[in-house]
Amino acid sequence: MVSSFLQRAFRSFLYRSDRFWIPLWLRSLGLDLQGSVHFIGLPIVSLFQGSQIRIGAGSLLCSRSFGTALGVSHPVVLRTLTPHARVLIGERVGISGGSICSAKEVRIGNGCLIGADVLIADTDFHPLRPSERYDSQKAFAEAKPVQIMDNVFIGARVIVLKGVTIGAGSVIGAGSVVTQDIPAGCIAAGNPCRVIRANL
Ligand SMILES: CC(C)(COP(=O)(O)OP(=O)(O)OC[C@H]1O[C@@H](n2cnc3c(N)ncnc32)[C@H](O)[C@@H]1OP(=O)(O)O)[C@@H](O)C(=O)NCCC(=O)NCCS
Repeated sequence: MVSSFLQRAFRSFLYRSDRFWIPLWLRSLGLDLQGSVHFIGLPIVSLFQGSQIRIGAGSLLCSRSFGTALGVSHPVVLRTLTPHARVLIGERVGISGGSICSAKEVRIGNGCLIGADVLIADTDFHPLRPSERYDSQKAFAEAKPVQIMDNVFIGARVIVLKGVTIGAGSVIGAGSVVTQDIPAGCIAAGNPCRVIRANL
């Protein structure tokens, strides 16, 4: 009884203090937070010099397991890998753990829900030829933008690979690997991710 009260009090303290100091800290690192962006726990951020990470008003990034039903296996990771890279997150977007890495551009529209531990990257990180495998700059040069349109719902532990566009309003099933474009207004799932219901 006492311990659950203390637990609730401690969580409430963390929620309040996170809301205050994390946006200040991230702005000081150079993130472009538009209006009021909420954080539960500190995300891991690397912003390559000259690159951009923008997060729209009303978005919530959860990096603590108690802040989201499924929990998260690690804090949200936001990373830009080149001077021209951009991570552009719209308004009212929810993100629970997971990683978003960009060498060129990852764009997430307004109102998207990104489930627990989703990975989104616009690059393969390593070239495919063995002789070039450790030349990451070469892989970054071949990055292809990822675009997730408005109101997309991405299930837990999905992987979204380079060059993919997911159409507005679509749902991506848990654990899917998205290798190709997904149209708007559908449910898609599986590895590789395919449309399982065309009209929502
Ligand atoms: C994609 C989803 C929304 C589909 O729900 P649904 O419309 O009720 O679909 P059904 O359960 O009727 O399944 C339809 C078919 O798709 C398949 N399917 C459903 N979800 C799948 C998934 N994640 N991966 C692969 N196949 C899937 C089913 O096996 C079924 O195949 P069948 O017709 O050959 O039997 C749901 O399965 C899902 O993955 N929800 C995401 C939950 C989640 O991660 N929430 C985030 C919390 S942070």
